[in-house]
Amino acid sequence: RPIEMRDPAPRPSAPCLDLTVRPRRNRKSEWARRLVRENCVTTDDLIWPLFVVEGSNQRVEIASMPGVERLSVDQVVRAAERAAKLDIPCIALFPYTDPSLRDEHGTEATNAENLVCRTVRAIKKEFPEIGVLCDVALDPFTSHGHDGLIQDGRILNDETVAVLVQQALVQAQAGCDVIAPSDMMDGRIGAIRAGLDDAGFQDVQIMAYAAKYASAFYGPFRDAIGSAKALTGDKRTYQMDPANTDEAIREVELDLAEGADMVMVKPGMPYLDIVRRVKETFAVPTFAYQVSGEYAMIAAAANNGWLDGERAMMESLLGFKRAGADGVLTYFAPQAAEKLKQQG
Ligand code: PBG
Repeated sequence: RPIEMRDPAPRPSAPCLDLTVRPRRNRKSEWARRLVRENCVTTDDLIWPLFVVEGSNQRVEIASMPGVERLSVDQVVRAAERAAKLDIPCIALFPYTDPSLRDEHGTEATNAENLVCRTVRAIKKEFPEIGVLCDVALDPFTSHGHDGLIQDGRILNDETVAVLVQQALVQAQAGCDVIAPSDMMDGRIGAIRAGLDDAGFQDVQIMAYAAKYASAFYGPFRDAIGSAKALTGDKRTYQMDPANTDEAIREVELDLAEGADMVMVKPGMPYLDIVRRVKETFAVPTFAYQVSGEYAMIAAAANNGWLDGERAMMESLLGFKRAGADGVLTYFAPQAAEKLKQQG
């Protein structure tokens, strides 16, 4: 039990402030703090992103994300089982594509037998009850590491969208529950919704990476999926300028109009103002992605003994809830869920 800090009763001779209002009264003990608590994190708030790699019985460490590994399909299925046991509602899949399968057009993205599709099938066979979310974007599959098709150094928006629709379709066919386009092309939500509906996938949800910023915090993720070295230039012609807020509102508005069921803000911690404004403006299911760099910062500091990793993790997750998020994609999901289970 934590030690309760009690102030000694003021001595009559001690200076005494004439205060009618003393906010500290509501913080005087654990029960009082519990009683007035406004927000909480529960396992229902968590989406756990996982990295998939070819092979079997493989767990490959990612240097820039201590504690996170690339998992072969069988190991992802074990992770799905762990998620189910921990009551984590949903897992998100990201492939590490073999470099030999990457090309200029991201052809492997639309292969119905690609790593992600095989993983979805394997999970759904054993644990049909867990939510499976698949990212839609070409960067794990392109030799240049960009999310779209390129011609003469320019991203081809509409041509890319046509490929993304096909990518979403093979994922839906494999049994994916939530399609999550992270590419930031214009018009992709509407095109994907129409493509899914035409193919009979009316019930497949779309979580739009609606306000996705061109961020330095994605660095470790690009190591994890093996696109960091390949990436030429940056993604600033499609991902948003970190200086902007109104633009996020416009992006969310469009994605909702085009049929998004849920929207996401990404990265998370440096963009809590965006989470708050999106939630207040649209009152729709709103998620935040605590991205790889945010995970890495906390994990690295904790591993160095510079901060209490568990407390920093829970505090950061609470911050998302306070900002108005309905849930968080976080690499801390299993640790957080375990901690929440212990607390009962
Ligand atoms: C790919 C994608 C990225 C992330 C999720 N999907 C990286 C990027 O846009 O370069 C980042 C996730 C993370 O950093 O944890 N479109």
